[in-house]
Amino acid sequence: MSADLVDTFGRVHRDMRVSLTDKCNLRCTYCMPSDFADWLPGPSLLSTDELMQVLDVATSLGIDGVRLTGGEPLLRADVVDVVRRITELEHAPEISVTTNGLRLTTLAQPLADAGLKRVNVSLDTLDRDRFKAMTFRDRFDDVIAGIKAAQAAGLAPVKVNTVLMKGVNDDEAPALLRRALDEGWRLRFIEQMPLDPSGVWLRSTMITADDIYAWLTEHYTLTPVPARGSAPAEEFYVDGGPATVGIIASVTRPFCGACDRLRLTADGQLRNCLFARDELDLRTALRDEALAADPRALRTELERRLRLVVADKLPGHGINDANFIQPSRPMSAIGG
Ligand code: 5AD
Ligand code: SF4
Repeated sequence: MSADLVDTFGRVHRDMRVSLTDKCNLRCTYCMPSDFADWLPGPSLLSTDELMQVLDVATSLGIDGVRLTGGEPLLRADVVDVVRRITELEHAPEISVTTNGLRLTTLAQPLADAGLKRVNVSLDTLDRDRFKAMTFRDRFDDVIAGIKAAQAAGLAPVKVNTVLMKGVNDDEAPALLRRALDEGWRLRFIEQMPLDPSGVWLRSTMITADDIYAWLTEHYTLTPVPARGSAPAEEFYVDGGPATVGIIASVTRPFCGACDRLRLTADGQLRNCLFARDELDLRTALRDEALAADPRALRTELERRLRLVVADKLPGHGINDANFIQPSRPMSAIGG
């Protein structure tokens, strides 16, 4: 397998996060304001044909994992078709999806049949009323049903992502782990990152990986799982294993040095980091008439732009620098 996407720090890029839409059917407070209305205009979204052109080039340059994200990726009308078409690429990558789970009840089986291997479902609380307060939608039961549907479809083990926030759901870490052990979910706690458009993130109140570790070890014995590689989660065996729990210390112990990810927004902008200040426009190349008439030239141009974005990648996200500036787009528009 080629490894063409190497940055100036020697990091080989193999993973691409692809946002299929910026729309969502929840309004998680850390992601978008409840009255969010600043959606991307429809014509700016990449068509599925355009997306496949990008992925065809990216996978030929060594990208071997594609994670579909949003917003909520399962709101894209043709998401099953997107998955199937990715499996048909010449260098077909592993495909996974990060979802809020709401549409899994109907889509888990068709997605699995189309070639999807894994899902990550976001779930921050086990309490219905809290769920409603945290997402502005009364859909807790639908998420649970969605996770069950994913398990029934063989998309197992389902990974469950949890963000804890002070005074909101930070008392739930042990209960979430209990539930995960009972239900066979692979639970991962993610430190909240400064990505919310209303700017509610505060370093002084953020729940850290050390907090979570301390709360869990009041109830469970955690032993580190060796060999972390480029995976961001620090994994621990729970009570000797085989079950594990992950803690992703994106802010307090950044893993930028092992980062192998690129991101493609739903409107065709390539980013080398969640926190990048710049994006590189692939859409203009995809829609350029002269390039459209010459597939080889389009391919060469897409390759050039992919390499450019990788070459520009900074060593880290800089969240801990005094002059850190939050990205101008919300998480829902960048892709998780
Ligand atoms: N910090 C950490 N995780 C976040 N997510 C969304 N916004 C943030 C944030 N500011 C998570 C979601 C989902 C995944 C896409 O990213 O909970 O699991
Ligand atoms: Fe939707 Fe995910 Fe953002 Fe929640 S975090 S509002 S589920 S995109």
